[in-house]
Amino acid sequence: MDLMEYQAKELFAKHDVVTTLGTVVTTAEQARSAAEAIGGTVVVKAQVKAGGRGKAGGVKLAKTPEEAFEHASNILGMEIKGLTVNRVLVTPATPPVEEYYFSFLLDRANRQYLCIASVEGGVEIEEVAKTNPDAVKKIAIDPGKGVDAAKAREIATEAAFPEAVFEQAVAMIEALYQVFVKEDATLVEVNPLARLADDKLEALDGKVSLDENASEVRHPDHEAFVIREEEDQLEAKAKDKGLNYVKLDGAVGIIGNGAGLVMSTLDVVAYAGENHGGVKPANFLDIGGGANAQVMADGLDVILHDPQVKSVFVNVFGGITACDEVANGIKGALEILGEEASKPLVVRLDGNNVEEGRRILADLNHPLVTLATTMDGGADKAAELASA
Ligand SMILES: Nc1ncnc2c1ncn2[C@@H]1O[C@H](COP(=O)(O)OP(=O)(O)OP(=O)(O)O)[C@@H](O)[C@H]1O
Ligand SMILES: [Mg+2]
Repeated sequence: MDLMEYQAKELFAKHDVVTTLGTVVTTAEQARSAAEAIGGTVVVKAQVKAGGRGKAGGVKLAKTPEEAFEHASNILGMEIKGLTVNRVLVTPATPPVEEYYFSFLLDRANRQYLCIASVEGGVEIEEVAKTNPDAVKKIAIDPGKGVDAAKAREIATEAAFPEAVFEQAVAMIEALYQVFVKEDATLVEVNPLARLADDKLEALDGKVSLDENASEVRHPDHEAFVIREEEDQLEAKAKDKGLNYVKLDGAVGIIGNGAGLVMSTLDVVAYAGENHGGVKPANFLDIGGGANAQVMADGLDVILHDPQVKSVFVNVFGGITACDEVANGIKGALEILGEEASKPLVVRLDGNNVEEGRRILADLNHPLVTLATTMDGGADKAAELASA
């Protein structure tokens, strides 16, 4: 789960990372009041889960409450990287003298943590990484040892934090590591980590991604970070129905049982899609073992409401739930959905009671349903229908 800047800063404050919380608001009037209460110059910042907000015009200085109102009116409703801005953060303006970049992340390939730090941070960090990679330091962290004062010092030295802020940087690094491990984050990023006019270091921005596998048991408090209306609508619906669904960026909806089968279905569809104009799978959806009519209807309901979906490939291997039950599930799902089932379905069944399952679907003789006998054949047919 990715957090918004204001939420990331709440976690920063909890672990003694120097930052200013500011006030989150959803209307321009509230932005004006917040600016009044803060006093002096403020910054109005778009709160969306995307980088590059500043470059998109979503971060503005306001010298007066009236200006804060103006900026908030413009920023609220704005789209940044396809995301609509529904809230802005109003926070005191503390112009940086220097901007540093700092992050901790999971380095899966090397089975360790990684720290990335640069004294050339700010909104151009991606550019710096391209044109002057030596200015971006990467320091491996052994998860077993973690980051103690000595390691923090080593990182600050490697990143070459200036003398005047060195000790603060060390403290900041230790505190950010606490956010990273105590909150079970997969990413903790500060850009800019700012050196202010009085040589104080402060986290002026924050990005945190939390590991959702740790949410339920280890961090029930993280649930409070979920903002319902900001979630992908389809993913939220799937979650409500207890489905394992991940939206992707393609045109062939996928339903399968068992994560392994669904993963390989994605591969096979992507491969088949190459012969049909490059169509791709639209989602991951594992309906698990109990593929009854209701689960099938719920799954189809989510997938058919994805406007990108042009066809659906149902690829089920009958095991504990036999193929005839799955076939009856599909039949029932089509009845439940009625008119809402409007896109072609390619169904491939195999395994337990396959003959009976195929007979049920053949008898159904539904205009939208095509039966496939093999996984490759089904993938090809679904890709063809999606490219039509
Ligand atoms: N409180 C503040 N006071 C003064 N300037 C600020 C403040 N917060 C941010 N800025 C300036 O605005 C720039 C962009 O802000 P911020 O990093 O929060 O947005 P961003 O565009 O999301 O950045 P990123 O590219 O890291 O996603 C900062 O680099 C900094 O120069
Ligand atoms: Mg930033």
